[in-house]
Amino acid sequence: MGTETSEAEQVVRPAGRDDVDQLLDLLETVASEGRWIGTEAPVDREARRRQLSETVEGSDRAARFVAEAGGALVGNLWVDLRTYGVADLGMLVAPEWRRRGVGSALMEAGIDWARAAGSHKVVLQLWPHNHAALALYRKFGFVQEGLLRRHYPRRNGELWDALVMGLVLDEHSPGSSIS
Ligand SMILES: CC(C)(COP(=O)(O)OP(=O)(O)OC[C@H]1O[C@@H](n2cnc3c(N)ncnc32)[C@H](O)[C@@H]1OP(=O)(O)O)[C@@H](O)C(=O)NCCC(=O)NCCS
Repeated sequence: MGTETSEAEQVVRPAGRDDVDQLLDLLETVASEGRWIGTEAPVDREARRRQLSETVEGSDRAARFVAEAGGALVGNLWVDLRTYGVADLGMLVAPEWRRRGVGSALMEAGIDWARAAGSHKVVLQLWPHNHAALALYRKFGFVQEGLLRRHYPRRNGELWDALVMGLVLDEHSPGSSIS
């Protein structure tokens, strides 16, 4: 069963094996833009297909959601729960579907899943120039926790900074008692 987003025709649902080809297409499209995600074009489709086929359905430690509109896959979000309870999150939306609520619908699904899985915190990384992502994450309560300087090598030889953002889900457990 999926969750309807603000635009009636958009639905967010767990990903399945039948989504792999469209997920690869979407990844290639966004990677080809060259400025938003870590993955760069050309994408090694076969390696990615093998990896996706094994992981697309998720597990009790990982969730994969897709957003569908008009029979096409227009967005994707993944969450991976680390052994110590922090959930890593990543996402992307097809260019022509941005700013139409798809990212928000995916994010709601991702955070709900993390909370239900017992995670105490969701974390993610983004490029400092990704103002759309920054605005979306802030809207959901993520705050900047760090800056990774000259951290990620790009294929053109540049070293890109990354922002680290976090959303604490458990504000009630005690913090460190060591002063
Ligand atoms: C970042 C991304 C996932 C946002 O998805 P989206 O479907 O456009 O997001 P939404 O339509 O739900 O927007 C939610 C909020 O984010 C903010 N936002 C989104 N795009 C924005 C933009 N271009 N400029 C400013 N704010 C923006 C707004 O606050 C917006 O709320 P509003 O429309 O009510 O003002 C999408 O732009 C994307 O996939 N970009 C390329 C891949 C990427 O950057 N992935 C994340 C890597 S860290």
